[in-house]
Amino acid sequence: DTSFSSHVADQFRSYEEDRQMASKDVLYATSNGVPMPHPYETQRVGENGPLLLQDFHLIDLLSHFDRERIPERVVHAKGSGAHGFFECTDPIPELCSADIFSTKGKKCSVTARFSTVGGESGSHDCARDPRGFSVKFRTDDGNWDLVANNTPVFFLRDPAKFPHFIHTQKRDPSTHLTHADDSTMFWDYLCNNPESIHQVMILMGDRGIPDGFRFMHGYSGHALKLVNKQGDWVYTQIHLRSQQGTKFITQEDSASKSADHSQKDLYEAIQRGEYPKWSVEIQTMTPKQAEQVWEKQKINVFDLTHVWPQGQFPRKKIGEFTLNENAINYFAEIEQAAFNPAHMPPGIEPSADPVLQSRLFSYPDTHRHRIGVNYQQLPVNAARTGFKFGNFQRDGSMAFYNQGARPNYLSSIDPIRFRPRSVDLDKTHGHFTGEAITFLSEIRPEDFNAPRALWRKVWDEPARARFIGNVTGKMEVCREPEFIKRQIAIFREVDEEIATRLEKATGIKGYDGISKLRFNGTHNGMTNDAKL
Ligand code: HEM
Repeated sequence: DTSFSSHVADQFRSYEEDRQMASKDVLYATSNGVPMPHPYETQRVGENGPLLLQDFHLIDLLSHFDRERIPERVVHAKGSGAHGFFECTDPIPELCSADIFSTKGKKCSVTARFSTVGGESGSHDCARDPRGFSVKFRTDDGNWDLVANNTPVFFLRDPAKFPHFIHTQKRDPSTHLTHADDSTMFWDYLCNNPESIHQVMILMGDRGIPDGFRFMHGYSGHALKLVNKQGDWVYTQIHLRSQQGTKFITQEDSASKSADHSQKDLYEAIQRGEYPKWSVEIQTMTPKQAEQVWEKQKINVFDLTHVWPQGQFPRKKIGEFTLNENAINYFAEIEQAAFNPAHMPPGIEPSADPVLQSRLFSYPDTHRHRIGVNYQQLPVNAARTGFKFGNFQRDGSMAFYNQGARPNYLSSIDPIRFRPRSVDLDKTHGHFTGEAITFLSEIRPEDFNAPRALWRKVWDEPARARFIGNVTGKMEVCREPEFIKRQIAIFREVDEEIATRLEKATGIKGYDGISKLRFNGTHNGMTNDAKL
């Protein structure tokens, strides 16, 4: 068939074929499909003369090469990923109307990406750093992206701090060194923002360096909302529990690992047919319970520096996912993947957590910059819904799927179809109205409870010794003793023993506690002086 429309249709069909492309079946040609006898036949004037502008073949090669790199992710730049499937094992229709959780055995394809956070795209997999854990669920009702971390809490609860915090994890603007060689910025930030202490304890402890991505859990961190068919809703925390168990490595062992340790481990396990698997589990909390935990325990459901106690809010399994397919082309299938916490199908909604609310803006914004306005059309990102969908978005750079001859406006001549709303919007949009907003930048005694439990109840003596060693190592490369004195004061609020051991190890005497400290942009709710 020589018609234009059949050529275009073939192009859409050929993506799967392209993934399996083998050199022996391919004829060498320029980007416009013109066959060339050999790649090394640059045109020049005479034997030793200059090159010719008419040599499209060479210019085609060089100019494409010049544009090979897209911007790397501003955070989580170093990563690995794979494809697989999710299966619902324990449906929750009473809690959530999402189609994917409606029936036992319901499946959808997934793509997962794991990452370190602070390093550049070529950085070491065994960095002491949280790990990103993103999963794109291609449900019949559109894509759901769970963009999670391997720790249940985060460094901050005020989104305005995020770029500041991340910049302290990046290279110093002048020395161009990272915090591995100069930790001054790192401690400057942390000693001024003590709500980070729970995450700092986890990071510096035995769970700070996962031994590859297969052996770690994932946590939504934020509260999300599950909404049922009647419009009733609960808050939820989502846990991804590794069925391989968890494994971590020590600082010393990390030095002997390959820079691509986690990539290699994940890729090779899948090639061997050892498919890693995670259970998807939920904790739930009613809006009434959310008010109670705030009143009684000062845990705010919108504050991701705190966890929900599992004794009070037990985990419940709803499904599991398996990664059973490596990418054939890493760039197309993993690097260009765009995970966005705002991607939620009906039945799952964001909570009012201010950090989550900010992320809902930030991710699609960075995707338009990093990949381009039509990034949702790329095969790895494209939704595979149970229905044919369309809208009024058109054109822009790289518009590959531009919706044919359909009207580009809401037309009465050629009307589009709508799915009727199933729940009352007024009912679902309610929120617990606690004090999350006012205390965002305030430090309270409750901020130290979970870190204290880690030190006193969870860790044994060898774990405590390793923690002191890890923190000391990081403090030794800090140029400013004042930051160490302040950080020791923060550790003293967790437990006096941590402070005295760090004082001994570093030779620096820390402040007595934080009650007399002023923070840079953070309100010290533990001071007696109201003016501070
Ligand atoms: C990646 C922003 C907090 C997990 C990113 C990216 C940005 C970003 C711009 C790069 C995305 C891309 O290029 O595709 C922010 C902001 C935050 C925040 C502004 C807070 C205000 C968090 C939190 C978590 C998280 C709390 C986890 C609970 C991730 C993960 C990725 C990521 C897993 C990597 C996604 C991938 O694999 O492609 N973040 N982030 N972030 N973020 Fe955040």
